[in-house]
Amino acid sequence: MRRAVCPGSFDPVTNGHVDVIARAAGLYDELVVAVLVNPGKAGLFDVHERMSLLREAVVDLPNVTVDSFEGLLVDYCLAQQIPVIVKGLRAVGDFEYELQMAQMNRELAAVETLFVPTAPQVGHLSSSLVKQIARFGGDVSSLVPKAVNDRLVAQSRGRQS
Ligand code: PNS
Repeated sequence: MRRAVCPGSFDPVTNGHVDVIARAAGLYDELVVAVLVNPGKAGLFDVHERMSLLREAVVDLPNVTVDSFEGLLVDYCLAQQIPVIVKGLRAVGDFEYELQMAQMNRELAAVETLFVPTAPQVGHLSSSLVKQIARFGGDVSSLVPKAVNDRLVAQSRGRQS
């Protein structure tokens, strides 16, 4: 059984993430989407909300599961016996850091990294920009799954009332 992990912060999941997840799911028998638990960095959504939004976003992908991890990604990979990490690459700007992490993860635990170039239609998306736009009342409905948009709109209404 070929397994891979697609790790990230997913705060929140965007259509760019979904594009990479869906394409990676087509390459492996099982793909685990793993949300980083980072106690030092509070996000907009807590880890349980991120996982719940991810589960809704991948509901049509039967070989995708959603999990979380804390600490080193390679330790999670070893514990779960997952030999491959899948990361999306949007542009050259992503490449330098992603290459460094891929090389480090291979050195630490012989875990390989597969890079999937994002589709051009979603190459400009980032969770940070989505949050910024939503915070100021902008429309992000074309940038994120419906459940995420609904949550962002509800949060924005909550702030206004
Ligand atoms: O969505 P992000 O924030 O780009 O995801 C980055 C992530 C979670 C994949 C990366 O920060 C990570 O792997 N963190 C876990 C800690 C770790 O293993 N660090 C060493 C990397 S060589």
